[in-house]
Amino acid sequence: MYPNMRLRRLRLNENMRELVSETSIGISHMVMPVFIDESLSDKRKIESMSGIYQHSLNSAEAYAAHLKELGIKWVLLFGIPKIKDAEGSEAYNEDGIIQRAVPIFRERGIGVITDLCMCEYTSHGHCGILKGNYVDNDFTVNTYGRIAVSQAQSGADIIAPSGMMDGQVKKIREYLDKSGFENVPVMAYSAKYSSSLYGPFREAAKSAPSFGDRRTYQMNPANGREAMREITMDVEEGADMIMIKPALFYLDIIRQARERFDHPLVAYSVSGEYQMLKNAIDRKFLNESVIEESTLSIFRAGADIVISYFTEHMAEERKKRSD
Ligand code: PBG
Ligand code: ZN
Repeated sequence: MYPNMRLRRLRLNENMRELVSETSIGISHMVMPVFIDESLSDKRKIESMSGIYQHSLNSAEAYAAHLKELGIKWVLLFGIPKIKDAEGSEAYNEDGIIQRAVPIFRERGIGVITDLCMCEYTSHGHCGILKGNYVDNDFTVNTYGRIAVSQAQSGADIIAPSGMMDGQVKKIREYLDKSGFENVPVMAYSAKYSSSLYGPFREAAKSAPSFGDRRTYQMNPANGREAMREITMDVEEGADMIMIKPALFYLDIIRQARERFDHPLVAYSVSGEYQMLKNAIDRKFLNESVIEESTLSIFRAGADIVISYFTEHMAEERKKRSD
């Protein structure tokens, strides 16, 4: 009790504050998302995400070298194919865009997580194969299995299915195992909400659905307990890591998952979270320190790994400080 207790004593100076700091951000626990577009011959600015680019296979080489130089250890790759069809068949083309992009990063010593979904590959922009206007679950998960194998063949270190189909982890695990990829881990987008915060991404990945929305497969933002059911299911199907997405509006879900599960817990701070903060910083409504604060909050809530579009910037800042 005051006056023998004074909490301000441990805030007296920077060294003292760091000594008692409970959470820290390590770049080795962060992942930078990268978009590779087969239609491009050079990198191109993404209108909806300031400071983020779509890369061509060519420009990806210099970019990979740059990320390596910054000390970034992991990327999450999204491929945008030139040709889209109703079955998203470019997604498992062994010479497809993501399959060709993987080695560019791997060869430079960067770990590669491949996003496994079909919305960038289908002409209708849905995350699977349609039967009428409904995304057919069981047909889709078999196709996911096929895509997983082709991504693993190209050298992907981790496969990250994001389509929110039931049984996707089980099918992918089966396909990987029977093709000799029993050591390739699955990072499951377990609790992925149907969120407005994906808006900027859909321009970047050219993946907006041409009709309807994703609410028959992505989660209702009103539900927390259901997220625990989704995670339980993925864990039982053999997921090596589990993910909550988005992050900042869903910190309660991250905390609950941390308390209930012992798997490495991933949080994806999505395009809308990035762009909200970026706009406010660029227009000087918020100080740049909000980047550290928001990322710290996600780790403090319980995430072990954070996927963020600020990863590159944060690595740059750390490099400047250490030079
Ligand atoms: C595709 C996918 C999406 C994101 C990652 N993978 C978007 C969606 O479901 O429409 C969102 C990422 C972001 O907004 O940064 N299944
Ligand atoms: Zn999708």
